[in-house]
Amino acid sequence: KARLVVLASGNGSNFQAIIDACESGRLDAEVVLLVVNRPGAYALERARTHGIPSRLIDHTTYPDREAFDAELAAVIDEARPDWIIMAGFMRILTDGFVDRFQGRLINIHPSLLPKYPGMNTHARALEAGDLKHGATVHFVTPTVDAGPPIVQGRLEILDNDDVESLKQRIHGVEHRLYPLAIDWLVKGKIDFERAEKQSRPAVVDASGAL
Ligand code: GAR
Repeated sequence: KARLVVLASGNGSNFQAIIDACESGRLDAEVVLLVVNRPGAYALERARTHGIPSRLIDHTTYPDREAFDAELAAVIDEARPDWIIMAGFMRILTDGFVDRFQGRLINIHPSLLPKYPGMNTHARALEAGDLKHGATVHFVTPTVDAGPPIVQGRLEILDNDDVESLKQRIHGVEHRLYPLAIDWLVKGKIDFERAEKQSRPAVVDASGAL
């Protein structure tokens, strides 16, 4: 079984989707550790419920990013993961950290990258009058939200969509997309070099079955 370390900051619904895929056997992997950077993160509760070890590394108690990232890296190494999965982990990581784990460090982002890196992706897609929106699973590189994409889940923006409805629908896409992407990684169907070479990522139409 592939060993996953999941990094989260908040609710952890993507973490839950990964747990469910592991427990059902759809994913030949296990989450060996959850790391959160915020004391109140609901993801901690999910880990407890499922008997998954968890660590809180509260970024507010570290003098700078380097110190936080050094502790995070040490904790990750101790867990000997094959993959490090960022699931709503709302921290910018130092270049040193990213370089150390590059190729094994994966993120999910709520837009069709390279569109809308950063925050408020749903509002920006609506504002721009986009017809399509989605989520991207990608390898993490030092430039935020710019690493080689693995797969995108795409849906149509409906006339009556607002930020809240889009957010919910994108979450639904993410919960199917992330386990799928991790399955490809675990099975060796994609790796960093191949993702870098492909001109466009695989796209799944999220209105159908993923
Ligand atoms: C997800 O929508 C994820 O794509 C986004 O945060 C949400 C976390 O939800 N991540 C980012 O914006 C990263 N820049 P969750 O805690 O319920 O999984």
